[in-house]
Amino acid sequence: MLFLFVLPKLPNKEAHRIIMQHPEDKKVFVKEKFTSISKKYDLINSLVSFKIDAYWRWITTRELKQFPTGAVLDLCAGTLPLSLELTRQAAERRVVAIDFCEDMLRAGVKSLPNDARRHRITPICGDGEELPAKDNQFWGCTVAFGVRNLANTQKGLEEMYRVLKPSGKLLILEFSRPTNPIVKPIYAFYLNKILPLVAGMVSGDKEAYEYLASSIAQFYEPEELLSMMKKAGFAETYSRRLTFGVVTVYVGVK
Ligand SMILES: C[S@@+](CC[C@H](N)C(=O)[O-])C[C@H]1O[C@@H](n2cnc3c(N)ncnc32)[C@H](O)[C@@H]1O
Repeated sequence: MLFLFVLPKLPNKEAHRIIMQHPEDKKVFVKEKFTSISKKYDLINSLVSFKIDAYWRWITTRELKQFPTGAVLDLCAGTLPLSLELTRQAAERRVVAIDFCEDMLRAGVKSLPNDARRHRITPICGDGEELPAKDNQFWGCTVAFGVRNLANTQKGLEEMYRVLKPSGKLLILEFSRPTNPIVKPIYAFYLNKILPLVAGMVSGDKEAYEYLASSIAQFYEPEELLSMMKKAGFAETYSRRLTFGVVTVYVGVK
């Protein structure tokens, strides 16, 4: 807790680096930031990603087409965009949408379409590192832009493994860092300078988007995340880079 008092005096990048090394502080910080931007989250996402985010979620969800019925866990579900895509792609599928930020879930529920899909999504406020679910419950587990925000990634992956049924599939969609020498500096400039400015103006919380840039810079390399998935028990793991490696989809089977 001491860190929260020290942080305002530090430049934001350094402050975020320290927060991310201290799980309990990171949890408090992340929850606070998502609460603050919850009402504008969807709008800003479409704005700063030029709506490509919808395509990334569509591609990720397609990986679950062998499980069109039964329950899928959408972890770090936020305002429910991936939960909704999961119900869009399979008319019989049910989704349990878990997030520890109540305001994000509330904003998501408010904007759900007024049709049968809303009844197939059950939002639950809970921590991804201590999932409020029994073992072997779900055919699929999806996490879009959430794993990077977990305070203890390994613990989160172990929980995802625990709640999946044997042969169930984990899909992680997460930001990564482009390696193309032309794209890399342009993307870095956009992420560190333009995005916090635009998103900060719209949301009123520039720090939330500076944290986005720091957390992407400090996140694991795809190979590291794949080995952590294997350590958690997942087999048949692989990753697939999309849009010059701006995001990566990770797949694993229990
Ligand atoms: C960037 S948002 C992603 C929302 C959504 N999945 C999407 O595709 O846009 C990340 C979400 O992860 C949630 N989160 C972070 N750590 C969490 C944890 N330990 N347990 C549950 N949710 C968590 C945040 O509250 C936030 O809503």
